[in-house]
Amino acid sequence: MTVKPSQWAVPMLAVVAAGFHAPQTGAKKAQPVPTSTATAPHVFTITPEEKARKNPIAFTSTAVKRGKQLFESQCSMCHGANGNGRGNLAGAIKVSPPDFTKPGVLSKRTDGELFTIIGQGTSVMPGQRHRLSDQQRWELVDFLRFLEGKTPEPAAPRQKRLLRHQVVVHP
Ligand code: HEC
Repeated sequence: MTVKPSQWAVPMLAVVAAGFHAPQTGAKKAQPVPTSTATAPHVFTITPEEKARKNPIAFTSTAVKRGKQLFESQCSMCHGANGNGRGNLAGAIKVSPPDFTKPGVLSKRTDGELFTIIGQGTSVMPGQRHRLSDQQRWELVDFLRFLEGKTPEPAAPRQKRLLRHQVVVHP
């Protein structure tokens, strides 16, 4: 048997009055959502699929070099050029950037998590999803792994890359 609205209207009112927000019921929000949500540490919303995503860009010195250039122009003002969290802007923002060179800070994150975080941003960090390409964000992940102390593979030999494009079609 279905419950008629009149039967749950009274308990529902009590719940709303108590400040409990149940968005699914369509109940009006009693209080405005605060606009400033600067909290530390930021709570990221990362799905299991995002967490499990593998980095399609190989961890080579070429990718690290590209990631380094992006990091210097987009991230170092807060995170510091070597990722220690002491960029020029770090003192001016409410939340201190973490020290990426400290053991355990980045190693607790999967590549997929870092990729998602860079895309989402936080209350103080601009999200890059609409500003950088996926490839650039994965290159940043590679650079973060380098900052963490990992050693990339040497760049692929130039010859190999040239050969792929040197397909000569004879008549
Ligand atoms: C305006 C300053 C600012 C800029 C620019 C910035 N960040 Fe951040 N970032 C922060 C702060 C502050 C935190 C800590 C967030 C928190 O806990 O609330 C953070 C957190 C992170 C984290 C999460 C670390 C963790 O595991 O908790 C990653 C990864 C990161 N930043 C990468 C980047 C990259 C890559 C860029 C450049 C594309 C970047 N950030 C640009 C300020 C910044």
